[in-house]
Amino acid sequence: MPESVLKIRDVMKSFGGLVAVAGVSMDVEKNTLTILIGPNGSGKTTLVNLVTGVYKPDRGKILFDGTDITGFPPHEVFRLGVSRTFQIPQPFRKLTVLENMLVVHPGNPGEGFLSSLRRNGWRKFEEEAVERAFELLKFLNLGHLWNQEAEKLSGGQMKLLEVGRALMAGAKLLIMDEPIAGVNPVLAHDIFKTLRKLKDEKNLTVLTIEHRLDIALRYVDYVYVMAAGSMIAFGKPEEVVSDRRVIDAYLGG
Ligand SMILES: Nc1ncnc2c1ncn2[C@@H]1O[C@H](COP(=O)(O)OP(=O)(O)OP(=O)(O)O)[C@@H](O)[C@H]1O
Ligand SMILES: [Mg+2]
Repeated sequence: MPESVLKIRDVMKSFGGLVAVAGVSMDVEKNTLTILIGPNGSGKTTLVNLVTGVYKPDRGKILFDGTDITGFPPHEVFRLGVSRTFQIPQPFRKLTVLENMLVVHPGNPGEGFLSSLRRNGWRKFEEEAVERAFELLKFLNLGHLWNQEAEKLSGGQMKLLEVGRALMAGAKLLIMDEPIAGVNPVLAHDIFKTLRKLKDEKNLTVLTIEHRLDIALRYVDYVYVMAAGSMIAFGKPEEVVSDRRVIDAYLGG
């Protein structure tokens, strides 16, 4: 039996009279790259907002790694290992790439006034954190840019830095909402290749929303499809693209 790291069960969310997510269930299997697709307004971002604690569901349950996180506030969900790239503070534009990695390290003693006075604490933190940061930056092909100010990165490199910061913060499940929107095709492929590599070599699970299916579907293991607030299909990419309900949802939407 494959193990689900994320289980969503019959989750519902309305805004006034509008039912954005109408009783949706979904499983994200550990160590997979899973994509959530669907026409505009079908409820994808709302579902992710329910998982990450931005909204509380009106009904239903959400489990992460065996813990019932239904209704948990965002920082709690994040602390358990669910990183949505924008949940991490946006990169500091004037800090270097390496410094941006170091500030999200959970062991950062700078978080506490007293611990920051303990010099030895700092030194140990620095060695371990710097080593890990460099290893991740190399993995993301950002190694050569470690001393570059974040504001000088391209849009695609900035996305990769966001991924690096999520990993640095200890993410087990990385959730991305349209990671390649507005990114040039070469970098867009690079980003999905990197997500795959993270999955294969760093044991990460990735859930992504994306509209650019021509690129994204080549890299993903599983596809979930939403339409008008409901989950209408699930399967491998080749199964889903030939599913009549999916074709109709896109043509109708
Ligand atoms: N905070 C909110 N208040 C009111 N309505 C909302 C809110 N958030 C989302 N909605 C509505 O819920 C529905 C689903 O929106 P959602 O953003 O989840 O769709 P989506 O699938 O992410 O679409 P897109 O592909 O365009 O990003 C839409 O009709 C949207 O207008
Ligand atoms: Mg959206």
